[in-house]
Amino acid sequence: MSDGVDVLRRIELFAGLDDDDLRRIAEAANDVEVPADQVLVQPGTKGLGMFFIAEGTAIVETKHDHVELGPGQFFGELALIKEDATRTARVRAKTDLRCLAFDRASFRRLVAEHPDVAASLLEVALGRLAENARFGDQ
Ligand code: CMP
Repeated sequence: MSDGVDVLRRIELFAGLDDDDLRRIAEAANDVEVPADQVLVQPGTKGLGMFFIAEGTAIVETKHDHVELGPGQFFGELALIKEDATRTARVRAKTDLRCLAFDRASFRRLVAEHPDVAASLLEVALGRLAENARFGDQ
């Protein structure tokens, strides 16, 4: 099984960071393992954390779509960006899933200490919001 630094090294968002940065970030994360079919994120609830997928596949169920996310991808960031935001979609494990999870405080530290990571994360987050708000959808 790979450790937290190995997981983070495979994530494009962290491409510009050195091993010391990655180690500090990995130390702030919790290893979370859930079985296939378990729901990790319920729409409309307050967000407590975000997740980077280490192993397995998750399914994001938005109003319009089902989107699969795999190793190196992340979810749960949207409800953490704004203090009073709630979850925008349901996320469940399609297969057994292993993630690195960051609570709200660790997420805040991560984006405050690494502006480049914050900018890339915002770009992905905005793309997802735009996708979910596509004009023409009911
Ligand atoms: P959050 O709103 O905190 O919880 C649900 C998560 O699903 C959301 O953060 C994103 O990480 C993810 N998500 C929402 N919409 C999409 C999408 N269109 N594509 C991929 N992931 C999404």
